[in-house]
Amino acid sequence: MAKDVIIALDFPTREETLAFLDLFPAGEKPFVKIGMELYYAQGPDIVREMKARGHRIFLDLKLHDIPNTVKRAMSVLSKLDADMVNLHAAGASEMMRAALEGLTRPDGTRPLLIAVTQLTSTDAGALKHELLIDTPMAEAVLSYAQNAARCGLDGVVCSPLEAALVKERCGAAFCTVTPGIRFAGGDAGDQKRIMTPERAGKSGCDYIVMGRPITQAPDPVEAYRRAVREFAG
Ligand code: C5P
Repeated sequence: MAKDVIIALDFPTREETLAFLDLFPAGEKPFVKIGMELYYAQGPDIVREMKARGHRIFLDLKLHDIPNTVKRAMSVLSKLDADMVNLHAAGASEMMRAALEGLTRPDGTRPLLIAVTQLTSTDAGALKHELLIDTPMAEAVLSYAQNAARCGLDGVVCSPLEAALVKERCGAAFCTVTPGIRFAGGDAGDQKRIMTPERAGKSGCDYIVMGRPITQAPDPVEAYRRAVREFAG
């Protein structure tokens, strides 16, 4: 399994995104995450542009709709040549299988398809009283992950603290993409359940997603290289 650091490009505009990426020397092309903010502001051209610049892309749009709609939307996304896309496992098996079908290109290749289990913003109270799920959070997350694995998805987005358990339940090849990463002694910001790149590397995380610790660092390129170094151990 390829282990890598993915930089979350949480910028509102193309100009700010390019100004950030231009800090890197021409031969250094980090794996980047494009989320809803940037995608909805700039449209699919921002994905094409990042690909043309040589970046691998995690397109973090978290699809969740009826199977046919998700299948057709995934088919459009596969043509953008993203390397990783995601959906909500809450859409259930039929939707996840349809997504895989839509994502698979005529030559049989496709981006990695990753499931979101429960949003980290959903707490135990919301799970029980609003979503009406009586299962404890950790079990609900693992059960959603197993369902995604059974449907043929490639992995889940999860907390670095859950990565080892996900591997245990879903198999070593099932990949874990983990935000909530902070350098030792760094500012946690709004992330509550955090881990350092070094610990994440030893805890079953395949990809770590880092935004502010890199994008807001005094020297973002050095912060990125530090993350890569520490994650690789
Ligand atoms: O700046 P920071 O390192 O906290 O950025 C983490 C990135 O991962 C953000 O783009 C955030 O939206 C995303 N993310 C997260 N927690 C999740 C899922 C996604 O922080 N559970």
